[in-house]
Amino acid sequence: MNPTMTTRERDWTLPADHLTLEPAARLVGELWLPGDKSISHRALMLALLAPGTSTIRGAGDGADVRSTASIAAALGADVARQSSDDASNVEYRVTSPGIDALAAPERSLDCGNSGTSLRLFAGIIAGQPFEATLDGDASLRGRPMARLAAPLRAMGATVHGPDGGARPPLRIRGRRPLASVEWTPEVPSAQVKSAILLAGLRADGVTRVRETVATRDHTERMLRARGVDVCTTSEGPGGSIVEIEGGGTPAPFDEVVPGDPSAAAFWLVAAAIHPDAEIRLRGVGVNPTRRAAVDLLRRMGARIEETALESRGEPRADLEACSSDLEAIEVSPAETAAAIDEIPILCLAATQARGRTTIRGAGELRHKESDRIAGIVAGLRAFGAKVQNQGDDLVVDGPTALGGAAVDSLDDHRLAMTFAVAALIARTQTKMGGAASAAISYPAFFRDLERIRR
Ligand code: S3P
Repeated sequence: MNPTMTTRERDWTLPADHLTLEPAARLVGELWLPGDKSISHRALMLALLAPGTSTIRGAGDGADVRSTASIAAALGADVARQSSDDASNVEYRVTSPGIDALAAPERSLDCGNSGTSLRLFAGIIAGQPFEATLDGDASLRGRPMARLAAPLRAMGATVHGPDGGARPPLRIRGRRPLASVEWTPEVPSAQVKSAILLAGLRADGVTRVRETVATRDHTERMLRARGVDVCTTSEGPGGSIVEIEGGGTPAPFDEVVPGDPSAAAFWLVAAAIHPDAEIRLRGVGVNPTRRAAVDLLRRMGARIEETALESRGEPRADLEACSSDLEAIEVSPAETAAAIDEIPILCLAATQARGRTTIRGAGELRHKESDRIAGIVAGLRAFGAKVQNQGDDLVVDGPTALGGAAVDSLDDHRLAMTFAVAALIARTQTKMGGAASAAISYPAFFRDLERIRR
């Protein structure tokens, strides 16, 4: 698609698909990150459900969030988007007729690569008096949906799709009102929890989602901020039960999106594993359900300073990381679930840590944008790292000096960014296929990489 170029030759807002990456002598500087992807999706969806005008400042402008914005427009909202800041984030102004007057879409809704768009919109459509089809790219069409179809069916929606609705495209016929349910997802999933809660908005009575391992809680916080009755109670070690009262209407809201902690993790690890690095990240979201990677890196010995910032919404902080001496750690299944999107970059950190790092219960990574277990093992081994997959665990022995590699991201944004960071500490040049996938969550990633490279 794009010609092969070196990282210094082009405009990084549109990364080339095949890149040659040079090692960095030094990493230094300050970055503003893309707006949090999970919060940006939800802010757009809740703006669609709120009758009136909502604004969203600092929204991420990755392809996934754009998919959500165009689906919100297809369901009847007027969605205006304009550039907002130096992090290449955007501001949305969304005017919607609201949850009781959504438009039946004229064609299938394209979620692109975005599992969050597909699963959360499925929950919204389940409570609407029309039928809609949610579809996506080849990667999304391979991702598991039975975990979503089961609760939505139990609530009264009809869900059709390949293998009995186990994969997209999903054709969903909504029903009003839905029946309320009490549901315990089999695998920890904020997307499934959120879909049930969004459907629960349109159910008779109280819908409950029981989590044995807590997942990101943005949907609950953001519904509450918009006046919807949502209540979370702790249950057992690390578990919780979330209840939503049916019949609520989210109010219009002005959201300010914090920097994406999953994007921050790439730079925190880059700083920690590079021998001459100091990177400052401004305004990063540090919601307790999203900060596991920071805490795990600190447990490995990473020098990360955190300065809390004032915030009226999600908690935010400036983070500063520098070259560190890392030690191997054991990561429990609950910690793995909490840091699920950061596991690829944490595995890279583990290649530079003294001893054996074991990341337990990582099986869900097989069902992300790619089979991330296979991608991590193949990619990091290409750099010379000692990485193995044992059952659902990832085992990394370190420290290993990395060599330059020829790697492929499998068109998975988080693998592309992990391998790009590995390239910064490799002895020689790295060639990567599928680099453009970084734009799924972080379109300016390679521009930022050049900003901190010395
Ligand atoms: C997300 C939840 C997680 C995560 C994904 C974003 C969300 O997925 O991996 O990148 O915004 O709710 P699961 O719900 O499948 O665990």
